[in-house]
Amino acid sequence: MADHVCPVWVGYLLASPLRKLFDNPVKRLSPYIRKGMTVVDVGCAMGFFSLPMAEMVGPQGKVICIDLQEKMVQKLYRRAKKKKLLGSIEARVCTRDNLNIDDLENSADFVLAAAVVHEVPHAASFLAELYGAVKNGGKLLVIEPGGHVSEHGFKATIDAAVNCGFTILENSGTRRRHHALFQKISVK
Ligand SMILES: C[S@@+](CC[C@H](N)C(=O)[O-])C[C@H]1O[C@@H](n2cnc3c(N)ncnc32)[C@H](O)[C@@H]1O
Repeated sequence: MADHVCPVWVGYLLASPLRKLFDNPVKRLSPYIRKGMTVVDVGCAMGFFSLPMAEMVGPQGKVICIDLQEKMVQKLYRRAKKKKLLGSIEARVCTRDNLNIDDLENSADFVLAAAVVHEVPHAASFLAELYGAVKNGGKLLVIEPGGHVSEHGFKATIDAAVNCGFTILENSGTRRRHHALFQKISVK
C-alpha cells in the first residue's frame, strides 16, 4: 500500500514548460486523442498533460481532470483559465479510495494515468474504477517512472489492469519510464 503522495511543490516542477523538452505531451498522446473525445487525466496535478489534452480534444471535447489534492486542481484551473481552455476542462478532487467518477460509466474514450498508480493505496480498485469509466473500445495509458517503480512492480500493475478486464495492447517502456497501453473490449 502506497503512502507517499507527490507534494504540491513538486507539482510546480512537474508543470514546468522545460519538461516538454524531454517529455512532449502532444507527441506522447497524439496517437490516442482526437477532437471531440471525452478523456480523463487521473492524478493530473497542475495539468502538465491536461492542458495539451484540452487543446487536442478541442471545444467539442472534454478533459476530466482528477486529483487527490485540491491545491493541484486549483492551480490547474488557473493555468487553464490563462490559456482559455476552461471550456474543455472539468476538474474533480477525489479521495484516496474513491475517484468520484461513477457518473462517467462507459463514457471515456481515453484515460491517462501518468505517474500516479504507485501513489494509490489500492491499485486494483483504482484500476477497476477506471475500467468502469472507459467505454467499450476506449483506451487506458499507464505511465510510471522507472526510478520509483521496479519492473516487478509495474508487472503487478499490468496484472491488476488485466484482472479488471483490460486487454493489454502494448508494454513498451524504457528503464526511465514504464509505459503500458490497454483497451476495454467488452464481449456482449
Ligand atoms: C507524481 S504526480 C504526477 C502528476 C501528473 N500526472 C504528471 O505526470 O505530471 C502524482 C499526482 O497524483 C495524485 N494522486 C495521488 N494519489 C492519488 C489518488 N489516489 N487518486 C488521484 N490522484 C492521486 C497526486 O496528488 C499528484 O498530483
